[in-house]
Amino acid sequence: MRLSHSTWLEVESYLGKSDGIIIPLGSVEQHGPIGLIGTDTLCAESIANEIGNRTGALVAPAIGYSPAGFNMAFPGTISLKNKTFLMVMEEIIDSLVCHGFRHFYFLNGHGANILPVKKLIEKYAEIYIRIKSWWEFEAVNQLRCELYAGWEGMHATPSEVAITRALFRTVSDHKLGLPEKLDEAYVKAHAGDRHSAPEDHRARFPDGRVGSHSDLGTSEHGKRFFEVACSSGRSDYLNFLDDKTSNKSHASV
Ligand code: NI
Repeated sequence: MRLSHSTWLEVESYLGKSDGIIIPLGSVEQHGPIGLIGTDTLCAESIANEIGNRTGALVAPAIGYSPAGFNMAFPGTISLKNKTFLMVMEEIIDSLVCHGFRHFYFLNGHGANILPVKKLIEKYAEIYIRIKSWWEFEAVNQLRCELYAGWEGMHATPSEVAITRALFRTVSDHKLGLPEKLDEAYVKAHAGDRHSAPEDHRARFPDGRVGSHSDLGTSEHGKRFFEVACSSGRSDYLNFLDDKTSNKSHASV
């Protein structure tokens, strides 16, 4: 059930049965020569909506504007400062708390959103917050390894491109060479989108891909990723609602 497609009476009635809500988190940023600017938001929102269909959970509109500073040297990227993003997130949570929501499940599609949400988990001791990036689910991660081995990389990944190809659009008129292959140490050091300043980042990764061979991600793969992410997300959301332990223990990022 989508919040934006619901009436207030329907939301009031929902709150009589559940205090949980799913909020998709994405970005508006370049995703390489064949990846869509909205990739992170499109993936997160599609998966969240389907988890909502399968669980009966209410799904809020995606939060697509987020920190993406490292991509600002590529046209089309829109970036919020961390503090702005945190303020927006807090005011969204506060509004929903005011109506009685207590379980906030952030279905994430963008690495740089993880750290700010961890801060929110520390701040809001009285409610339950979990953030899950769709690629973190074990079954999804296995599929990424199986299909792409060392070419998943960090940005404009074949798995996210596969999902947008399956559900939205395939850009196929641009022939891509292999991206620079990153070693494990690099990936670890830059996890959560801890990349360099915009001009340096573009100089280092001129076509916008960061170690990711985007073109490996076929529409067929995308359907498989979508299904596995939705089925893992369904179980994870239901488990989250049942878990009555403190907020801090939900920081399963
Ligand atoms: Ni992305």
